[in-house]
Amino acid sequence: MPTYGKFPDRWVEEVRQRADLVQIVSSYVPLKKKGRKYWGLCPFHGEKTASFSVDPEAQLYYCFGCKAGGSVIRFVMDMEHLSYPETMHYLADRLHMPTPQMEEDPEYHIRKSQRERLLGANLEAARFYHQLLYSPQGAASLEYLHGRGIDDSVIRRFGLGAAPDSWDALLKHLTELGYTEQELRLAGLIVVHEAEPATESSPARPRRTFDMFRNRAIFPIIDARGNILGFGGRILGKGEPKYLNTSDTPVFNKRLGVYAANLLQKERNLDRVILVEGYMDVIALRQFGVPGVVATLGTAFTPEQAQYLKRYAPRVYLAYDGDSAGQHAILRGLNILGDAGIPARVLDFPDGLDPDEFIRRDGKEGFDQLPAVSPETYRLRRIRDTLDLTTKEGRTEYAKQAGPILKGLEPVELENQLQDLMLQTGFSREVLIAQIQVSPTLAPASPVSSPHRNIGIVQPKASLPGQEVSEALRSEEQMISLLATGKVPYEDIVTEEDFTDPFLQKLFRLLISGRSPASIVEMLESAEEVQRASLLMMSPQAEDVNEMLQMAHQAMRRIRLARVDRERTALEKQMRELPENERPQLLPKLLALQKERDSILKQK
Ligand code: UTP
Ligand code: MN
Repeated sequence: MPTYGKFPDRWVEEVRQRADLVQIVSSYVPLKKKGRKYWGLCPFHGEKTASFSVDPEAQLYYCFGCKAGGSVIRFVMDMEHLSYPETMHYLADRLHMPTPQMEEDPEYHIRKSQRERLLGANLEAARFYHQLLYSPQGAASLEYLHGRGIDDSVIRRFGLGAAPDSWDALLKHLTELGYTEQELRLAGLIVVHEAEPATESSPARPRRTFDMFRNRAIFPIIDARGNILGFGGRILGKGEPKYLNTSDTPVFNKRLGVYAANLLQKERNLDRVILVEGYMDVIALRQFGVPGVVATLGTAFTPEQAQYLKRYAPRVYLAYDGDSAGQHAILRGLNILGDAGIPARVLDFPDGLDPDEFIRRDGKEGFDQLPAVSPETYRLRRIRDTLDLTTKEGRTEYAKQAGPILKGLEPVELENQLQDLMLQTGFSREVLIAQIQVSPTLAPASPVSSPHRNIGIVQPKASLPGQEVSEALRSEEQMISLLATGKVPYEDIVTEEDFTDPFLQKLFRLLISGRSPASIVEMLESAEEVQRASLLMMSPQAEDVNEMLQMAHQAMRRIRLARVDRERTALEKQMRELPENERPQLLPKLLALQKERDSILKQK
């Protein structure tokens, strides 16, 4: 598959990043999330139990039944029976991405400027909507926004607008400005329904084009550089859907962006970023003078967004709705932040209110007094909600479920939690500590529903069948798995020489060159290599970085020990072959190896 020649690396990388493997696989077979991975029936071979797994982080798949494995590109090639270039065009089309500018392509310059054209169309649309807000056609939207406590200065700050109650007002306006129907469709500003021939049940329908947003209050989504990427449109009053959002376009990727990125960009020295769920929450909190507030864009919080927020502040506060969906989203958000090593806190709103409702009720003072709850405290609270602590069973269950959550806490924080836990459960400190020690490590995917799932250490067994796998080789493989997560630094831990298997050496070199697991898999020549690498680099291992680091050190220890033992065996053999009087020459070497072995054994 490594025929990069035809497409620029950067473009292929972009396709790879935008194409979500879970989504694409899901369009062929239903997937179910279990832990960090998704599982389903393998689309490549007939089966009745699910052995096909997809790793959303590594963006790799592997079937434990037929050993098919690879990245999204491999998957589409095999599913659609396409060549590599055909697959790239297919994916680009699916992702609404322009295909790359080949040198000889006469449309090169047109395509190159497409991004600017789409951003230009978005900017004009935002201007149009904003101006309309203060015209008779925007009166209903203006009244709606005012009615929600948003005044004109806030409207200006957020560039809010009104989409008129018309099928094609924007289409007409932007067409007059010289934008083509194709551009407006690509930007997600208009919708095209192709003509449909008559069927038995319905008459023929002509081709129709109309504005995406009609009769809604408009929230432009602006990136850190001030580009308008897309829009959210709220219905005026009740109705479905409450919000319409621009779907992903060549300039807009919801997984990466946040709402109010432009405002965040201008803020300095934030001690925390506050992540909320909705446009209205951002506006209300900021209107009341709370800095550093952004929202996800109507989708679940992603690791990419976590990395993005990390640039702006040392901590992230989750301030989601107080309803049950919000509570669930907080637990998931805490896991994502935890995985990214970002300290997190939760603002837990009372009475099921969302941040907008709360700050309008209790004001900035009320908001500032909300305690910032630690992830552990929050998780424990959620567990308590499901249990009856007035019964012995409830208290016992609580102590059990608390175990995984408290495992790995720093001593002082553990102490704080233990005090509460002793009071709430009636168990002694010793018992609680013992319980924590036997608890499995917390599994991020669903900490409340099943904290007992034993997702501890998974030893990858990715070697080819029939091959005797030594402990050392297993450790080398484990090292690759850990490095592929991108969370374990290799510098102080491992070098290329530590790997005895040339294939693992190759993977190591590629990983430390900064390539993503999915891109590495695409560079491999044989199907066997692709399969083995996919399985190895599908994550992981452990749930938090500290544990991964520890596993890496343990694996290293085993690898080094194996190396010393090999060298010693070779040396001893060499000695036996020498005449007796020459053997002592090798003794210092043997002693040195012995010493090295001892020192490795002493390391923890
Ligand atoms: P909420 O339903 O919590 O709405 O959705 P909200 O932010 O409180 O909105 P108001 O106060 O009723 O106006 C939170 C976010 O989820 C996305 C939007 O981004 C919204 O801000 N969402 C919600 C949609 O994209 N579509 C919907 O239909 C509903
Ligand atoms: Mn709300």
